[in-house]
Amino acid sequence: MSGSRLLTSEDVALCDLPNVHPISYTRYLEAGGYQGLLRAAERSAEAVRDTVKQSGLLGRGGAGFPTWKKWEHVAVRHSTEKYVVCNAAEDEPGTFKDRYLLRHNPHQILEGALIAAHAVTAQTVYLYINGRYTEEIIWMQQAITAFLGNAFPRKFLSDFLTHLDIRVVKSPGTYVAGEETAALEVIEGRVAAPRQKPPYYPAASGLYQCPTLVNNAETLAHIPSILREGPEYFRNIGNGQGTMLFTLTGQVCRPGIYERPLGTPISELILTCGQGIKNQKNLKAFFPGGPSNAILLAEHLNVLLDFQALRKAGASLGTGAIIVMSEETCMVQAALEYSRFFAKESCGQCPPCVLGLLHLADTIEKIENGEGEAADLKRVSQITEMIKGRGLCYLLTGAAVAVESILAHFRDEFEAHIDAGCPFNLSASPLACPALQSH
Ligand SMILES: Cc1cc2nc3c(=O)[nH]c(=O)nc-3n(C[C@H](O)[C@H](O)[C@H](O)COP(=O)(O)O)c2cc1C
Ligand code: SF4
Repeated sequence: MSGSRLLTSEDVALCDLPNVHPISYTRYLEAGGYQGLLRAAERSAEAVRDTVKQSGLLGRGGAGFPTWKKWEHVAVRHSTEKYVVCNAAEDEPGTFKDRYLLRHNPHQILEGALIAAHAVTAQTVYLYINGRYTEEIIWMQQAITAFLGNAFPRKFLSDFLTHLDIRVVKSPGTYVAGEETAALEVIEGRVAAPRQKPPYYPAASGLYQCPTLVNNAETLAHIPSILREGPEYFRNIGNGQGTMLFTLTGQVCRPGIYERPLGTPISELILTCGQGIKNQKNLKAFFPGGPSNAILLAEHLNVLLDFQALRKAGASLGTGAIIVMSEETCMVQAALEYSRFFAKESCGQCPPCVLGLLHLADTIEKIENGEGEAADLKRVSQITEMIKGRGLCYLLTGAAVAVESILAHFRDEFEAHIDAGCPFNLSASPLACPALQSH
């Protein structure tokens, strides 16, 4: 488990993912597994939180929020019940990293969640997993059984485990079900609909109104090595922020899951790991952090993959889903695909989301079909401006940011569609995001 690869032992092409099987409990132990939990058990909850603080770990679920701060917010609350939710709902197009982790090493996620439970003094851990990941759910259940069946000798752990409840809950496998408060709704037995924040911030009023820590599965999978090897170990990787799992999809020769230190240039992912653009075409644009964020262009290949550098470049690292579009991609079609996706995934609670996204997709479709007018282009801008920052969750703003950035970089393509119809041969033009096909 030591060495530069914290989470995985090898890069894997997406087509090879079905052949990846989890390492056994015994092999995990031999590789240093559950040593992080033992180290945590020897320390107070506060000392564990301090170790995570020193590591500087930022959440891998999309926003890059400092993990220790989130833990602190839950830990300081007085409550007889507290919960930890490991978020592996993962249904964003182009993101398969948590699935890979679950396939490759469910124990590492479980160990991270158990350490988190100790650190925030929670009594129940929920492993909330995309319901369509049927094999991974079974493997996680097997990992829990193997762990509990081989209980550790230390007294603390026995006491801790006696009082700890570990449960697996299936998410409905929709994009919005991964939003943290929608996840809580599902765990409580209701439909996946995000809650109003404030007041329902999970740390203050989460599951059953109790303080709840929600962390992404990859975030939690980083925890064991931080406890086992020490925070300096983590800070010495890359630019000091550890590694991240990047899902590379779209028009690259070798789409796959690649673990690289934060601070790696984007070019290394697209040109080296992905072996360049398919059919020897040129790179046109890419999402560096999933489709709820801004796109970047070929001129941004030297930008570093880390939270700050991407923010500076006007984009976001998100979940590390790098979606590549070649010169053959029609960007109006891309904007249409994404706006339709977001419209379809809306949970329906907020009128600007339901109506705004539908109107946005319909307007872009008109332009794509060569039936658009100059007023439609203006309308696209007006709608994105109107919906940004609205709604109970970030889905709506994410949709606006994505379409807005496509329009900002490729306005000439939208205008060309209005003047003379789509200049691309759409039957030959690749989908902007092949993963959208599964939605
Ligand atoms: C529409 C939507 C979908 C989301 N889906 C996921 C998801 O599948 N997995 C996840 O960890 N976070 C997802 N998030 C982010 C979570 O709300 C939350 O911020 C995250 O689980 C926090 O984990 P972290 O602090 O470890 O990064 C989603 C957010 C939104 C708005
Ligand atoms: S913004 Fe959209 S997806 Fe989010 S809660 Fe409102 S309706 Fe649901």
